[in-house]
Amino acid sequence: LSRVCWSRTRRAKEPPLEKGWPFFGVILDYGKNPLGFLQAAQQKYGDIFTCQLAGKYFTFITDPFSFSTVMRQGKNLDFHKFAMGFSQRVFGHADFTSPLFSESYREVHSLFRQTLQGPPLQQLSQNMLRNLQTAFQHCVPSANGWIEEGLQCFTTRIMFEAGFVTLFGKKAGLLQPEEIGAVGTCMQKAKRDFLAFDGAFPALAAGVPIALCRRAWRAREALAKGLLHGELYHRMCISDLIQRRMDAFDRMHLDETGKARTHVCMLWASQANTLPAAFWSLYYTLRTPAAFVAARKEVDLIMAQIPNDKPVSLSKEQLESMTVLESIIKEALRLSSASIMIRIANDDFILTLDSGQEAAIRKGDYIALYPRLIHLDPDIYPNPLEFKYDRFLDEDGQRRSQFFKNGRQLKHYLVPFGSGASECPGRFFAMNEIKQFLMLALWHCDLQLSEPDVTLSPDRTRAGLGILPPSQDVLLRYKARADRYTE
Ligand code: HEM
Repeated sequence: LSRVCWSRTRRAKEPPLEKGWPFFGVILDYGKNPLGFLQAAQQKYGDIFTCQLAGKYFTFITDPFSFSTVMRQGKNLDFHKFAMGFSQRVFGHADFTSPLFSESYREVHSLFRQTLQGPPLQQLSQNMLRNLQTAFQHCVPSANGWIEEGLQCFTTRIMFEAGFVTLFGKKAGLLQPEEIGAVGTCMQKAKRDFLAFDGAFPALAAGVPIALCRRAWRAREALAKGLLHGELYHRMCISDLIQRRMDAFDRMHLDETGKARTHVCMLWASQANTLPAAFWSLYYTLRTPAAFVAARKEVDLIMAQIPNDKPVSLSKEQLESMTVLESIIKEALRLSSASIMIRIANDDFILTLDSGQEAAIRKGDYIALYPRLIHLDPDIYPNPLEFKYDRFLDEDGQRRSQFFKNGRQLKHYLVPFGSGASECPGRFFAMNEIKQFLMLALWHCDLQLSEPDVTLSPDRTRAGLGILPPSQDVLLRYKARADRYTE
């Protein structure tokens, strides 16, 4: 009970404590504006402070030089307990930390690296590029004439379909013309269910049981139904990642719905951040004339190397050479990322920060890192709220990776994918797929924002959950690219 009352008092060597109201703590102020709240607390207390948030104690570490110190505390600070607890509650799969499953789950976890990185990444990205081209063909008419649609709708439709098919494959066999429409309808339904489920995440993260979010629960179960192994066996071109997860889960003798729910979890991980990241990347490109010109020039140069009559295929070197697109995506991620990295203290211990300051941490407390504080720090990024498409390029147009604070070079200057034990295993694939999406959009289409002066803000209710989506959609006008089709 002492945890939920405000009887907790600061002990020797513990960080400054913001207790707030009984039980609720400072959750209301924090929830209204997490960045503003943490910036103010940073001003008041410095690099480390503890806040009571709805009965739980979170110690925030705001100094970017101390990130590595926290990441190295694998023995004292646990990542999986928190992440798995949340995942199990939201997705409804088995408790993979239980002795029954933990050994086999280690094998499942190692599949992320084996299938999303290194040499397999090239094949996966190639498949994504092929599926993106199919998705673009579905939506970009060859005739002249502008189409108007929300930019978020446009991005989500193309990226969701291509990403889904790349991981989970497509219906086997040659489709009859009348079946093509039905497949499109299934994809639209999956996308709708995905968005309904994802929309409940702020409530779910705040602790509301999914059983109370009826729409989200129904959407999750509908997605799981489509991802039952009995359904997946009938699909072709399933990714190695999903195929090998299916084999592993079959060996673990989980029930069929439980297996399918783990696939919903994978679908969410692969899409929830990628969709808004792709949105912001295209949005900022279209809003910033210099970015648009530089990006299109880079795309046209690459496409000039590719035979006209074949589907586009890119080597690893060609993908890596698109440094302008990469800088645009990184800058969009910098401005829109709001993930929190959370660890749980396994024991009472002393954490020594980079400055040498020692802080006593209590067993069961949460340690939280909020990279948005780094991403919007004016010492590191001058005019931090401004989109500068070439911020991550040097004078020669090559990748820039040296950023400084107080004259000292930073290791962690851009952390949208987390770090340490929880670093996103799909980060290289994500960067590739967004790059490919931008490339095809700029190559196939003339695009413009219908109201270029409307400024969008991110939806802050999702702070802590990853890339913030826009708070509203914005109209896009697009048509088949005139200078390409009239050549
Ligand atoms: C985990 C960000 C795309 C697969 C994470 C985490 C972050 C993140 C911050 C760590 C969460 C935590 O600390 O609890 C992003 C962003 C993406 C992206 C910003 C796109 C812009 C992807 C894609 C995939 C993927 C495309 C797969 C195809 C995963 C998986 C985990 C994860 C499986 C959990 C890893 C684990 O349990 O150890 N992602 N992600 N992500 N991400 Fe991503």
